[in-house]
Amino acid sequence: WVLMVTAQTPTNIAVIKYWGKRDETLILPVNDSISVTLDPKHLCTTTTVAVSPSFQQDRMWLNGKEISLSGGRYQNCLREIRSRACDVEDKKRGIKILKEDWGKLHLHIASYNNFPTAAGLASSAAGLACLVFALAKLMNVKEDESQLSAIARQGSGSACRSLYGGFVKWIMGKEENGSDSLAVQLADEKHWDDLVIVIAVVSARQKETSSTSGMRDTVETSLLLQHRAKEIVPKRILQMEEAIKNRDFASFARLTCTDSNQFHAVCLDTCPPIFYMNDTSHKIISIVEKWNRSEETPQVAYTFDAGPNAVLIARNRQTAALLIQRLLYYFPPNSDDLDSYIIGDKSIL
Ligand code: DP6
Repeated sequence: WVLMVTAQTPTNIAVIKYWGKRDETLILPVNDSISVTLDPKHLCTTTTVAVSPSFQQDRMWLNGKEISLSGGRYQNCLREIRSRACDVEDKKRGIKILKEDWGKLHLHIASYNNFPTAAGLASSAAGLACLVFALAKLMNVKEDESQLSAIARQGSGSACRSLYGGFVKWIMGKEENGSDSLAVQLADEKHWDDLVIVIAVVSARQKETSSTSGMRDTVETSLLLQHRAKEIVPKRILQMEEAIKNRDFASFARLTCTDSNQFHAVCLDTCPPIFYMNDTSHKIISIVEKWNRSEETPQVAYTFDAGPNAVLIARNRQTAALLIQRLLYYFPPNSDDLDSYIIGDKSIL
């Protein structure tokens, strides 16, 4: 027999960035962060986890290609979930797995991303969150989303924020064992549903410096990061929570853009410096800044993760339609500057 569960998890985009760990093994960050979870229809990971007495070892396939599960991060998640597994019974098929049997059974895991892997589109976030969620369902783990987020965190920091929809805060926590470093939902997906996210895929290629090694170098060499984590982010988190609560787009946009720019400044302050954005990214920033300054109040926020792709958040559908028109004007479909657009909601056009 084979018992399986399939789950789907959307990716999330940070509007106050996580960059830098105080503990690399447990993945504990140097500051809180806040993200928005995307609509699962567009950017998500789908993962099927299966268990069978005929499986000889744990194996995993990502987008159809087998990958190694020997990395510490996968092992941490598997170990944590297995240790919380409960009895599972499928009466119809006469299958019963006792709590203590889970340690002896092996798993097969198949995961698909519907967007470029490791191109700075937070694929690890959706991937690890989905893996943890699917395993928890398969093994009848009783923990709630926040507790599961602390497990997903040990797979990839940003993954802990993908267990919830809407706006999510990853609380950095104080405990050395990481038990209080977990995600909480600030507002659900209905709270501010005017917002429309448009992603301009500047490059679908794999990024050159992984987040993990980039942030390690930053922690070791950047003084600006220390200032950011201690003096800037704590205040910014409070301001962002307020902006989200009040659906105050002007403050939301200002904080989002400023924080993205400071994250990239911290990357430049790293030795050797890390360049995630390219000329096209900079051009997109100029277009949005100019547009926002020409209006009474900002229309679009931009944010860039560990890659050149622009995540653009429009205040409403009408603005999103204008934004796409402008992008098409500056970057015509046959231009070399953009690989493609991923548009949050196709019906805008
Ligand atoms: C720039 O979560 O990918 O997207 O914890 O080492 O797996 P690890 O890093 P990861 O870093 C994400 C960094 C970021 C900002 C963010 O999502 O907050």
